[in-house]
Amino acid sequence: MNDSFLVAPSILSADFAKLGQEVMAIEKHGADWVHVDVMDGHFVPNLTLGAPIVKSLRPVTSLTLDVHLMISHPHKYIDDFLKAGADIITVHVESESNIKDCLEAIIAGGAKAGITLRPGTSLDAIKPYLSFVGLVLVMTVEPGFGGQSFMSDQVEKINQLVKLRSENNYNYLIEVDGGVNASTVSQCLQADVLVAGSYVFKNDYKTSIDFLKKAKNNENN
Ligand code: DX5
Ligand code: ZN
Repeated sequence: MNDSFLVAPSILSADFAKLGQEVMAIEKHGADWVHVDVMDGHFVPNLTLGAPIVKSLRPVTSLTLDVHLMISHPHKYIDDFLKAGADIITVHVESESNIKDCLEAIIAGGAKAGITLRPGTSLDAIKPYLSFVGLVLVMTVEPGFGGQSFMSDQVEKINQLVKLRSENNYNYLIEVDGGVNASTVSQCLQADVLVAGSYVFKNDYKTSIDFLKKAKNNENN
């Protein structure tokens, strides 16, 4: 869809003691979105952060705040994230809330609605929602932790989503999340947005963000 990737560093790998500065630093060095991984210790084993953090980040950045809800009951918290200033809210199809209600609440609140699925979930599970989401997030690791290895067997989902989008005139962006780095980005060329946590925050921010942004052009030329 786009000529170069949008890059969404995941703050899961940032230094939480200076989170505002970390977000300002990635903005300065060319990030497009800020990916916020919300985990409830139930849908996934890990526990991370909630809407108050999004609220605190809102005044320090003009970047798109891209919230990935890895929680069992997203519907309960959508309003909180909307009020906190989230621009995109993505829910897992495996969560226990009514998915259509979640997506409608997100859209009604003025944000972009996203749908995502675990690596073990078939793409068929999200097909009923593809006509009205603005984002589809393809997980290339099991949700729960940063720093895991990219699952190449999930790439086929990206290709399928590109095909479904063009066949049906759907409007979603395709975002890839998990294990994206300089070696794996070549497998994501059909996507539009790359999430990268450890690759950005454990390296020089500018070099890693630049590398990812330009990866699509490099491969196509
Ligand atoms: C995993 C999260 C990812 C993760 C990405 O549950 O959704 O966003 O933080 O981290 P890396 O890029 O280190 O795999
Ligand atoms: Zn994520």
